[in-house]
Amino acid sequence: MFRRKIEEAVKALQFRDLYLLPSLSSKDPSEIDLTTNFSRNIVLKIPIASSPMDTVSEDEMSIALALLGGIGVIHRNNSIEEQIEIIKRVKSAPPVRIREAYLYTSDPCHRALEVLEDLEVRDLPVISLEGRIVGMIYYNDLIRSCKEYISLEKILRPPRYVNIKNIGEARKILFEERLDSLAVVNQDLVYIGTIIYRDLFTDLQPSLDDEGRLLVAAAVSPFDRNRVIKVDRYADAIVTDLAHLHNKNAIDALRSIQKEVSKDLVLGNIATYEAVKDLAENIEKIDGFRVGLGGGSICTTPEQAGAYVPTLYAVASVRDAVDDLGLRVPVIADGGIRSGADIVKALAAGASVAMLGYLLAGTDEASSPAIRIGSKIYKYYRGMASKSSMERRFAVDRYSRRAKRVEEGIEGLVEYKGSVFKVVPELIEAVKAGLGYAGASNIRDLWEKSRFLVTTERGDRGLKIEL
Ligand code: XMP
Repeated sequence: MFRRKIEEAVKALQFRDLYLLPSLSSKDPSEIDLTTNFSRNIVLKIPIASSPMDTVSEDEMSIALALLGGIGVIHRNNSIEEQIEIIKRVKSAPPVRIREAYLYTSDPCHRALEVLEDLEVRDLPVISLEGRIVGMIYYNDLIRSCKEYISLEKILRPPRYVNIKNIGEARKILFEERLDSLAVVNQDLVYIGTIIYRDLFTDLQPSLDDEGRLLVAAAVSPFDRNRVIKVDRYADAIVTDLAHLHNKNAIDALRSIQKEVSKDLVLGNIATYEAVKDLAENIEKIDGFRVGLGGGSICTTPEQAGAYVPTLYAVASVRDAVDDLGLRVPVIADGGIRSGADIVKALAAGASVAMLGYLLAGTDEASSPAIRIGSKIYKYYRGMASKSSMERRFAVDRYSRRAKRVEEGIEGLVEYKGSVFKVVPELIEAVKAGLGYAGASNIRDLWEKSRFLVTTERGDRGLKIEL
């Protein structure tokens, strides 16, 4: 009986065990459409969401991701008021990328040239030391003046700008006046930022609600009724945030709070076919599943508690249950995704979206400090069930329940990677290439056409960050 239990152990492959079998491709990567559903009613342009972790997802991350066509899930390691403030900042952010890109009139010519060349623009706003917009500098004028050692003031042209309240006009002005850049100012002409033409006219378009505001989701505990009710007023989707939602107490709590949720309700985390069945039998409102258990890079559940389901296997199991039960809701693959290749594999295994912690934790927009050690820069990243993260949770939110006494996460440093605006487009290019190899022109096509091949079974469970 017990020996048989071991002999009959489930064989669950993971990201690094499998590859996609190539197939006849008829589309260029530029023609591949990655439109997908985050939840029943929330459509994204790219299959990427951020993990609701306090070192990853606050407003900066969520704004950047929504601008790129994905979505951020705001963490709950804060008071309800703080979480709502973060959500409000995302909802009130302009739906265009605004960069800090400007020159001062006092800047030397060679520096101005360098800035324009780095940004690959032919013009840029110029501001005074008090921060007011004073003019524009053009590349051609600069080339001439640098030769003749003329100061920038001598070659300033009239300022071009848009008021933050009329930001919708930026596209028209940039297009009609053939500008590469446009300053954004407030009513006192104080510089706020710069819109760059190519940021507006790219393949990656923002995820917006019906009123043209950026989309954002929020993590909650199903036991925190008060937070669920309050956050539901502001966020576009609610994502439950428990390591093991397939648990009787959690299901009872969900049953009682589901009616309070007016937005989409994504349930997680789960990792098995049976979890979907039990949730479907007990919960009426299900708008998506967040799937993964023990697969995260900062996760120690497998070592501490002995439980683990490789994310790829969990996704496929949950997706089968969703299809068998006719639920028609998306599956979010969460944990252990460390490359564009893993995202493609997760999609091929039935996911609609990849949730990223590690891959985003090293970016400028991640909500944690950068740390310099020697010549290298790192960002701090920690599991939400790590000691320090749990301590913070109980300090800031007296309603949170300490259900378990064991730490199931670690903290550490990840290498600094630059901006999400660089990292995510690179991932998306890789994902599109993957779909191309699999002969798929969109995610649905990938679900239907893709096939996996197994190479060796390495038996490890993927990345661990360095302490
Ligand atoms: P990656 O691999 O992207 O995983 O860094 C992020 C996901 O890991 C989960 N998570 C945890 N899991 N202990 C865990 O067992 C933790 O402390 C912890 N913190 C986050 C979560 O699902 C996240 O999206």
